[in-house]
Formats: sequence, C-alpha cells, structure tokens
Amino acid sequence: MTTKELETVRIVREGDGIAWVSINRPEKRNAMSPQVHRDMSAAFDELELDAETKVVVIHGEGGVFSAGQDLKDSFRGLENDATERYLQEQKFWKWRWERLWNFPKVTIAMVDGWCVGGAFTHLIGCDFAITSEEAQYSLSEVNWGIIPGGMVSRAVVEAMGYRDGMYYCMTGERFHGRRAVELGLANFAVPAADLRPRTQEFAEMMMAKNQAVVNATKQVYRALRRGMDFDQSLDYMAAKFVQLKATDPQNGYRTGLSQFIDEKSYRPAHEPYPNPDQSQAGQSV
Ligand code: ACO
Repeated sequence: MTTKELETVRIVREGDGIAWVSINRPEKRNAMSPQVHRDMSAAFDELELDAETKVVVIHGEGGVFSAGQDLKDSFRGLENDATERYLQEQKFWKWRWERLWNFPKVTIAMVDGWCVGGAFTHLIGCDFAITSEEAQYSLSEVNWGIIPGGMVSRAVVEAMGYRDGMYYCMTGERFHGRRAVELGLANFAVPAADLRPRTQEFAEMMMAKNQAVVNATKQVYRALRRGMDFDQSLDYMAAKFVQLKATDPQNGYRTGLSQFIDEKSYRPAHEPYPNPDQSQAGQSV
C-alpha cells in the first residue's frame, strides 16, 4: 500500500508487517498540535485497511516520545474559539483513545526521551509499551494550572494503582523508565541503545502468532475492563469463543488440538521465550 505524505507524522514500513508510526516534530519535542492529531487519525485510517500491516509501533522522531499537547497551538491557539476548540478536542482524544483502544491490530508504544501529559493517553492506549530506562515521564498538568484532562486521568486510572495514580497526577513528579515498569505503564525497560531492536523482536514475536486469536483476545480483555458483571462476562466470552472458532482463517483451535492430541507435534507452552533475557515480563532487564 502506498503511504500518504503527512505533514507531522511518518509511517515507515520496516520489518515484515511492522508499521513504525512517529510524530515528526522533533524540534518541538513532538508536542501534539492539531495537525498531529489530524495526521495520526489519517495514519490509523490507512493502517487499519493495510493488509500488510500486522503490528503498529508508535514512537517519536529525535528520541522523544512526546512532550504532550502543544501548549501554543492546541491550547493558547484555540483559547478564543470555543466551537473550534470543542471540535478539535474531539479529534485530540478520538485517535488516542477510541481508535487505539479498539484498533484491530497489535499496537506498541516505544518510549524514549520525554513522555509528558497528554502523551500518557496514547502510551496507555497501546496494547504494549516498551521504554528506555532513561526515558522521563511526567504528568505535568498540575504545574500548568490544569487537570490531566482530555482522557489523561481516565487513561491513568486504567493503568495505574490508586496510590500511585493519585500521587503522580497530584504532584507532577518526574520518573524514569524503570519506574514506569514498576507502575504498570510499560512492560519492559531496556537501555536506550537496545530500544528499537528489542521493540522489533517483540513485534516479530507477536506477528508470528495467529492474528485473529490475538485480536479477539484483546477485544475480550478490553471489553471486560469496561465493566461487566460475572454472568455477563461468562456470556460475552462464550459468544466470542464461538465467533472466533467460526471465523479464524487459520482454524487455530482445531489445528492445535489435532497437532497436540493426534500428531503429538505441538506443545506451545514449552516453546522458549524468543528473548531469553526478557523472560521476566514486567521487569526491567
Ligand atoms: N508545547 C509546545 N511546544 C513545546 C512543548 C509543548 N508541550 N514542549 C516543548 N515545546 C517546544 C519549546 O517551546 C521549544 O520550542 P522553540 O524552540 O520554538 O522555543 C522546543 O519545543 C524545544 O523545547 P525545550 O524546552 O527547549 O527542549 P528541552 O529538550 O530542553 O526540554 C521538555 C524538553 C522537558 C519536554 C520541555 O520542553 C518541556 O517541559 N515541555 C513541556 C512539557 C509539558 O509539560 N507538556 C504537557 C503539556 S499539558 C498536556 O499535555 C495536557
């Protein structure tokens, strides 16, 4: 698929099936202007329909994930036009929350440099996050006279525990990549020099899986987090189970059973983890 030229976002297809999507305003530390939000929406429109793309990695050019909302263009620039501000704000959070949250492909945030304020929304909206140990995080809104709004607080509630979430929202204190892993914001922390190759390895590991199953698993997990009681959960999962068995183009369930029971050729739980030194998921390495 030919990639559209976007003013503030780059899409690079490198690695078989990986789309590397970056905010491309390194001179502004990848702060998110209204144009960034428009371009990101366009990028996700394109990648959703692109059959070759299986995994999307979101990052920032120049070694900075994002300095959050653009205080000049997105905040001051829209201050005097309430209607325009309202319309733009819908776009600000739609791609980062609605779109990412429901995106039918694997999404990974690759975090280096700074991850500030509004950047937490797309960090948490991704299925996975891999961070450099050196990356710096801050929910800085409290220091700008605003609340972590535009879905940021909602995203934080989703990912962080009560004490930690309250602490970092209310203090704006800075923390680094290793702490982000402890807080549940990232899956792994690696030295900055290893960030890209380790992200690529992880993306390749996810691509080797049955994508229909991976995406159904994600849909179910996210739907359950939105809130269902026990009976609704059982019913929903049963329906999804049947749907997946009926629609999986690889027929993974029956193939797997036949390989395990009849052919005795398949024991997935015994497969080695592709990155042995990352075998402690959730720990810094
Ligand atoms: N909005 C608009 N412009 C920004 C932003 C931002 N969020 N962050 C950085 N920039 C611009 C700076 O104004 C500067 O532009 P200029 O060269 O035209 O003067 C350029 O990016 C470089 O910024 P520096 O501060 O010189 O870069 P440095 O590497 O020293 O610091 C840092 C980076 C720590 C990210 C710093 O710029 C900063 O604190 N930015 C604000 C971060 C923030 O609090 N964001 C949250 C906003 S609120 C929200 O997202 C809901």
